[in-house]
Amino acid sequence: MSKKLELPSASRAYIKKELERYETKESALIPALFEAQKVFGFITPEVVDLLAVEMDIPPSRVNEVAQFYTMFNKKPVGKHHIQVCTNISCAMVGARETANYICKKLGVKLDEVSKDSRFTVSQVECLGSCGTAPMAQINDDYYENLDQQKIDKLLESLK
Ligand code: FES
Repeated sequence: MSKKLELPSASRAYIKKELERYETKESALIPALFEAQKVFGFITPEVVDLLAVEMDIPPSRVNEVAQFYTMFNKKPVGKHHIQVCTNISCAMVGARETANYICKKLGVKLDEVSKDSRFTVSQVECLGSCGTAPMAQINDDYYENLDQQKIDKLLESLK
């Protein structure tokens, strides 16, 4: 039998506090999903069920929110998750080529985890930094006005 999924007590306390902050429980879903992602790495159906119980929200609602937002990983990602925005402003200045260049440099396909588990490259929707396109988010940080030279330097620093 597989081990039952559990949230650490600090995460449970954090989610409880978030639930108390808002008028509706559903408003705490985004911070709760971020917390669960921090703990488990990605959001599985088991994580959805766990949050549903923890927050007393129907699992279908938790799942809807998790599925809607691309920032919640649905499968494992590498230590450095490189999310390249390919929405319109970024696409117009070569975002897809940027993502392809990064994949080629790292020897990975989009959304796959590199053999050494260090990298995953994904294409995502607008990250709200359209004025500095093309851009990418790596874990919690933004990298803007990307060109090949900047990418080379950046990838080198992550090795
Ligand atoms: S379109 Fe890329 S950050 Fe908005």
